[in-house]
Amino acid sequence: RIPLLIDTDPGVDDALALLMAFNAPDHHVVGLTVTAGNVGLAHTTANALKLVEVCGLDVPVFAGADAPLLHPARDAGYVHGRDGFGDTGYVPATRALEGEHAALAILRLSHAYAGRLLLVALGPLTNIALALKLDPTLPQRVGRFVVMGGAVTAHGNVTPAAEFNIAFDPEAAHLVFAAFPRFDLVDWEATVAHGFSHDEAEQWLACGSPRATFYEEISRQTRLWSVDRRGDLWHAADALAMACALQPDHVQEWAERPVAVELAGRLTRGVTVVDWLRQESEVDNARIALRYEPAAFHAMMRDALAAA
Ligand code: BDR
Ligand code: CA
Repeated sequence: RIPLLIDTDPGVDDALALLMAFNAPDHHVVGLTVTAGNVGLAHTTANALKLVEVCGLDVPVFAGADAPLLHPARDAGYVHGRDGFGDTGYVPATRALEGEHAALAILRLSHAYAGRLLLVALGPLTNIALALKLDPTLPQRVGRFVVMGGAVTAHGNVTPAAEFNIAFDPEAAHLVFAAFPRFDLVDWEATVAHGFSHDEAEQWLACGSPRATFYEEISRQTRLWSVDRRGDLWHAADALAMACALQPDHVQEWAERPVAVELAGRLTRGVTVVDWLRQESEVDNARIALRYEPAAFHAMMRDALAAA
């Protein structure tokens, strides 16, 4: 089975992606490295531990960055709840964090599974940037790297042109995009293009499994926010990224292009700039997922929620 390491900031859509990973028959989750992002690190780590416990699994959870590399954090508690999991007041997990820092865990696991590791980033890229600073040879050992982030034609979700994960820590994203010769990018605009109906999702959530019941509770506030702000369709960015990571054969259209991160713009800091016409560079570092088979995406989410 493919060893899968997930860097994440749970986060309601992170949680759905993690359920998909836990249910993937051909993959084995070797760790969750957690960063601040949607909310602060104390909450994102507690949420990761809780989800692992709800699923009855023994996946190690590593705490990492508690802030972006350079600038103060601007979180997304207004989407995910102040605790990142819908403010349900759940009983904290009894299981504990590992003692190792997330950046060190990324490096150790990259050695343990050298050449085979599937690394999936569902949050700001701070932990991976820290790992790269400690050991710039990291990309040589990662078999495949999938990033949820960016807005490839600059239709942003936190600023007019920038997407949350990149805007949260643009310097980290810059370091990571410059260091990995090749990665798969699943962006916010693909997420919007793959919105799915709340009505359909509510049927999955009502299936009665412990995972679905827990997820129904922690996602309730976000789903209400989403209906109010974004209309009838639910946009689950990290779930789409995980679908592309786990079952890339269902990607119906990729675009390979140079992608860089804007660090300086007054209006455009944190924007992922795609060189669509290869004006500045001929080096395609990113393979951008543009279209995914909707039925396969929906089935993966439904089955992950229903899993025992
Ligand atoms: C990304 O930002 C976060 O709020 C989500 O968890 C997702 O990773 C979408 O822009
Ligand atoms: Ca996330």
